[in-house]
Amino acid sequence: MARIAIVTGGTRGIGRAVSIALKEAGYTVIANYAGNEERAKAFAEETGIAVRKWDVADFAECQTAAAAIATEFGTIEILVNNAGITRDATMRKMSRENWDDVLDTNLGGCFNMCRVVWEGMLAKNFGRIVNIGSVNGQAGQYGQVNYAASKSGIHGFTKALAQEGAAKSITVNAIAPGYIDTDMVAAVPANVLEKIVARIPVGRLGKASEIARGVAFLVADEGGFITGSTLSLNGGQHMY
Ligand code: CAA
Repeated sequence: MARIAIVTGGTRGIGRAVSIALKEAGYTVIANYAGNEERAKAFAEETGIAVRKWDVADFAECQTAAAAIATEFGTIEILVNNAGITRDATMRKMSRENWDDVLDTNLGGCFNMCRVVWEGMLAKNFGRIVNIGSVNGQAGQYGQVNYAASKSGIHGFTKALAQEGAAKSITVNAIAPGYIDTDMVAAVPANVLEKIVARIPVGRLGKASEIARGVAFLVADEGGFITGSTLSLNGGQHMY
């Protein structure tokens, strides 16, 4: 039977490409979305992938959604924590709300979703978790103390949880995308983005499908020896 995969933020941007790639690889995919009803509906019609609405920042909603999906489809064996938001501002202009929203969604969402699928993976003695971090969590970014902290947190979280899952055949890895051609990056002011792209050795933004390819690689059954790692897919923007 096909393995069951949840992709958070799975109807747009990187998540959309991940959902499609996992479906093409033979998994049963459930794509989560938070707000954009119209895009989610169009995505479901176009791809035939099931979509479910909940807010990853809300623990109770994650519990309810994971339980419903497990009942309807079976044990969740693959989780891709992709849902993320930006609220960019320099420190002087950043509100406490900007900080909380980004931390609660990006890092809190990662905890919430891992927490609600963890027992099922332990019982099954199998799991694949991929957390989407960011080059900006590795290198920092002007105007993003909230986002960089959340993504950097994801990288630490990944290494810690990988140690807990290892003996139970649950792998936990991260991907650190660079600047990818999505709505999120399109929201960066054009003059700022131009300077960023100029610093990418490959000379262009990445494609969402190029990140999805990394996710498919990490979640494969054959990936049992890859855990606690971070795959940096950034066109050479940040090497270390
Ligand atoms: N380094 C140094 N100085 C910088 C700078 C940088 N990278 N960016 C801006 N500044 C300076 C400006 O030159 C300006 O200086 P002066 O006042 O002396 O002219 C000052 O900071 C203020 O800049 P802005 O006019 O842009 O200020 P703002 O308040 O309107 O906007 C900002 C600030 C919100 C940070 C805006 O510059 C911005 O949106 N930057 C993009 C941040 C970014 O890259 N976000 C990534 C989003 S995509 C993503 O996060 C996906 C992923 O994982 C990669």
